[in-house]
Amino acid sequence: MSTLDVRADLFDAPLPPTPIDVPFDFDVAIVGLGYVGLPTALAYHAGGSRVLALDASSRRLRTIAARGADLIAPDRERLDIALHAPAAFRLTGDARELARASAIVVCVPTPVDARQVPDLTALRAACATVVATARPGQLIMLTSTTYVGCTHDLVEQPLRERGMQIGRDVFVTFSAERIDPGNVGFAQEVVPRVVGGATPECEEEGARLLSRYTASVHRVSSLATAEMTKLLENTFRAVNIALANEFADICGALDVPVTEVIEAASTKPYGFMAFYPGPGVGGHCIPCDPHYLLWQLKSLHVDTGVITEAMTRIAARPRRVVERIRDVLGRAGKGTLGARILLVGVTYKPDVADLRESPALEIMDLLIDLGAEVQFTDTHAPHIRLGSGRERDSLADPGAFHPDVVLVHTRHHDSDLAWLEADTVVVDGTYRSADITGRVLL
Ligand SMILES: NC(=O)c1ccc[n+]([C@@H]2O[C@H](COP(=O)([O-])OP(=O)(O)OC[C@H]3O[C@@H](n4cnc5c(N)ncnc54)[C@H](O)[C@@H]3O)[C@@H](O)[C@H]2O)c1
Repeated sequence: MSTLDVRADLFDAPLPPTPIDVPFDFDVAIVGLGYVGLPTALAYHAGGSRVLALDASSRRLRTIAARGADLIAPDRERLDIALHAPAAFRLTGDARELARASAIVVCVPTPVDARQVPDLTALRAACATVVATARPGQLIMLTSTTYVGCTHDLVEQPLRERGMQIGRDVFVTFSAERIDPGNVGFAQEVVPRVVGGATPECEEEGARLLSRYTASVHRVSSLATAEMTKLLENTFRAVNIALANEFADICGALDVPVTEVIEAASTKPYGFMAFYPGPGVGGHCIPCDPHYLLWQLKSLHVDTGVITEAMTRIAARPRRVVERIRDVLGRAGKGTLGARILLVGVTYKPDVADLRESPALEIMDLLIDLGAEVQFTDTHAPHIRLGSGRERDSLADPGAFHPDVVLVHTRHHDSDLAWLEADTVVVDGTYRSADITGRVLL
């Protein structure tokens, strides 16, 4: 779930009639300036587009204006440049301004709820606003990951009901974001984008918009194909991560180093792609996106055994981590009651501050429930709130905590583990901390 304070009131306010005679001041409006939307807005701006950057959260807008958003260094520079060019990069919380943009890109969160049912609240609200403000000549592009048919249901059909002809008056497209926040290895500009349109004219306009900043656009024949492509991409990752975790356990049982095996298998130039085991998955994609598919397929009685099993295994991984820590403590003649356990890194992946769905939060709660004293250290997350409501601050001097066990959960590039004593018991949840003496694998 997004932790930002969404001001729905800004979007629920009755909108004035859409002006049809004012010129488009902006080439593109980005609706939702989160981990994906803000870098996207900056990429369009850097590509020479005039950008209207809209968010429903006034807190988020203030954070961006104060240059406090969690961005990779190149995007921090881009933001600095953009904020000095208000005519070509405008931050706003007023949805009525959407009428000033010739293209609207919707990039709001699509999480799942506690029962893993898609939570479409933000997407429905954003689409309702975009449909209400739509004016002739506009292109509307959904980029949020969602179920197959969503762009039709929330955008295309409501626009038709407004009397607009799709592909002539307005253009409706879907093109999922593929950004990997925190990853400096793949700039948004170099990652090809897949686009589908409600009509061939829509597809054409969508491809034209994406070409404003992406080097390569792959067109597909429909909105549904584009929506399904994103679900396949992230389901593929989920299934392979579940397999990598299982291989880690298999290798553990047979005393074979799993990371070395994966690296060796990766030398095969075809038919293999490396996925690494870990303490679980987090973030806004892998734990959520496959559930959009599973949810949709339930009523169709389609067999989804492989995906369902992978998602069940992934969800169970934090418990497996806790079991492993109990084993390690047990071997030292200790129990969890009163044990001092320290997590190194609690964000869901390296080099981001994103804590959404991070396995660390569940692991910490489970260990505390078992009576352990649990702390963490993380250069990207000074303060965390666990699912139980418990709160913790990152330890500035983790060595002074004198942990019985350290769980390496996430290793940022700037993590400094020099404080680890040679005899500290370390459980390596990343499977990639061979530099730590005496570590045991998860
Ligand atoms: N985070 C990732 O790694 C990633 C990668 C690829 C795709 N995606 C997809 O991109 C989409 C956005 O994800 P995110 O991680 O950027 O989410 P996020 O929670 O970081 O940001 C979403 C932003 O949208 C704003 N918002 C919510 N409702 C709004 C509304 N009605 N109108 C305007 N603004 C609104 C929120 O205030 C927030 O700032 C999701 O569908 C996600 O699945 C995410």
